[in-house]
Amino acid sequence: MREQSPLRPRVGIDRIGLYLPGYALALDELARARDVPVDKILLGLGAQKMAVAPPWEDTVTLGANAAARVLASGRVAREEIGLLLVATETAVDHAKPVSIFVHELLELPSNCRTFELKHACYSGTAGVMIASDWIRSGAARGRKALVVATDIARYDLRSSAEFTQGAGAVALVVSESPRLLELDPVTGVYASNVYDFWRPLDRREALVDGKYSLDCYLAALDGALDDYRSGLNGAGSIPLTARCAALLYHTPFPKMAHKAHLRLLEREWNEAARRGDEYASRFSTGSPEFAQAAEQSYAALVEPALGLARLTGNTYTASLYVCLAWLAERRARELVGREVGLFSYGSGCCAEFFSGRFVDGSAAATAEIGAAELLERRRELSVAEYESFMREGAQGGTPGRDDTGFCHLAAVRDHKRFYERSAWPR
Ligand code: CAA
Repeated sequence: MREQSPLRPRVGIDRIGLYLPGYALALDELARARDVPVDKILLGLGAQKMAVAPPWEDTVTLGANAAARVLASGRVAREEIGLLLVATETAVDHAKPVSIFVHELLELPSNCRTFELKHACYSGTAGVMIASDWIRSGAARGRKALVVATDIARYDLRSSAEFTQGAGAVALVVSESPRLLELDPVTGVYASNVYDFWRPLDRREALVDGKYSLDCYLAALDGALDDYRSGLNGAGSIPLTARCAALLYHTPFPKMAHKAHLRLLEREWNEAARRGDEYASRFSTGSPEFAQAAEQSYAALVEPALGLARLTGNTYTASLYVCLAWLAERRARELVGREVGLFSYGSGCCAEFFSGRFVDGSAAATAEIGAAELLERRRELSVAEYESFMREGAQGGTPGRDDTGFCHLAAVRDHKRFYERSAWPR
């Protein structure tokens, strides 16, 4: 482990809470219904199922459920939370933030600052960075931040993007002396105004220039890595693939993480060739030797984090942290002290590359994330049921309840939304 500076507090992710709605759609069924080759989805996109929110769940209930689970499992007292940030690109109101509903449902203190953050899928990471800086600055006065990333990815039915929908939320407790993942202060940022994915104010379904969005994502990865490298001031000569035990990427669909990793490897391979590395100089990035090395690297560093994303689909702001939750729950013990790289991308666009290290005892901090239990209790929908849920959701939802979470949409009157709680999660 690195030495700690007495002047710089150790800051990072203390706990992770995860929540998935109680319904899913198998994408091979959707492919058959849309007359699309099943392998295009299962192999070409790498996706198997997507989580579907019922009409009585929205980004308020998904986020509040993830947050309630992390407070309960992390044994974090409400009074310890001084900052609540809710990241979403599928809010329920243009002015009233999702965060104030979550604040009420969780019974957080009235002196807890709270607001909603928007920048497509990037804003969860914006929240983590703001929370970390708040703690490093001393303004937290020993308190913790709760960063909630919550989204329902919705495109037009029968569009090619329909296969890359999903729903879910992750809640992160960010604190000093974190029990899970200590974050490094150096990060790399890239921002540029591009129209790859957008959602006009009068639409519930996103619009996307699909192929262009992939190019924008990869250009943003290049930009963020360049900035990260310059922030390290010459200390970053060891390739990330050699330094890191895992590399996590924003995952709109799992194959995107594969494309991103390939781009990172190509950069490192070309750099090694420029430095005179004999193997990299001999074989270009178009060679079978490079392809073989790339597959081995992907299998070791990227694939282990993708299991949950394959079964939930795109959770927008939560997507990167869904990968972190899955990896942490399964591998935290063996990864103690090892570096993990994370790449966050939000269309439009802003992106950030950052890194952290699993701390001693982190396996205990992940014991109650409960991804397997959340997956097991899901009911699989038929395509007709899924379409009906999506249509109702696109109308703003319908009050109702099931026994999946601790809160639900109870009423909508005069464009006001009312939520009800049942028992707190244990
Ligand atoms: N068997 C196996 N593979 C097949 C196949 C078959 N029968 N048919 C096609 N494929 C492969 C294709 O070769 C392709 O793979 P490669 O990209 O590796 O070549 C893959 O399946 C997908 O095929 P297409 O590109 O033809 O698919 P499409 O035209 O339907 O579009 C998409 C795919 C652009 C991702 C579309 O689903 C989409 O627009 N999704 C939403 C946008 C998105 O997720 N963008 C990601 C970057 S932006 C971002 O990250 C922010 C965000 O969260 C939205």
